[in-house]
Amino acid sequence: MSDVRRLLPSILSADFAYLAQQVQTVEQAGADMLHVDIMDGHFVPNLTMGPLVVEALRRYTRLPMDVHLMVARPQDWAEAFIQAGANAVSFHVEAYPHWHRLAQQIRKKGALAGIALNPGTPLHWVESMLEYVDYVVVMTVNPGWGGQTWIEGCLEKVRLLREWIDVRGFEVLIEVDGGIHEGNVAQVVQAGANWIVAGSAIFCAPDPAEAARRLKQRILALE
Ligand code: DX5
Ligand code: ZN
Repeated sequence: MSDVRRLLPSILSADFAYLAQQVQTVEQAGADMLHVDIMDGHFVPNLTMGPLVVEALRRYTRLPMDVHLMVARPQDWAEAFIQAGANAVSFHVEAYPHWHRLAQQIRKKGALAGIALNPGTPLHWVESMLEYVDYVVVMTVNPGWGGQTWIEGCLEKVRLLREWIDVRGFEVLIEVDGGIHEGNVAQVVQAGANWIVAGSAIFCAPDPAEAARRLKQRILALE
């Protein structure tokens, strides 16, 4: 599993007035999946979008959609996003205690189930979940906004998680989310990440297609 490497542009930093075009641009540039950030103004202070946006985008892209639920009640929303077209849904371990139940529900509806953890949350919180989820989202910024500087210390969690997964033989992928760009993506991949999220590094670049292509090449070229 450690050789799986995917680039997931986060549409949070895209131009929402031209969302379909922006998505098609990164699709043509080699993006593997789309990362869709859902914020409810409670779990995080910011507010973004609901299932309608996923449903609308589904008609304009073939890319699988990875929905990142930064909401206080993920149990109320996971199914609606899957029905709207999400292929993978992650929720925060800090938000909901019945993670096993929700992960099973997500899988039963046909999507991959992910568990996300904030920079301040110890990795041990997800240790017992590794055989029941498809991916773990290690946040390298405090969730809420795009364009923040990464917290480099979080890489230690990625390394430790990679070790647990490899030594114990789990089939779980590692997603890393927040502040990733061409200058630090090598460290992230070498720490053991599989799914690399990048928002501002792609959509705030002068040429998002070129930025996505370069990031993808870099991810694939690393040993
Ligand atoms: C942060 C979001 C991230 C964000 C990443 O709350 O979960 O997915 O869009 O954006 P960048 O890559 O700009 O940090
Ligand atoms: Zn995210």
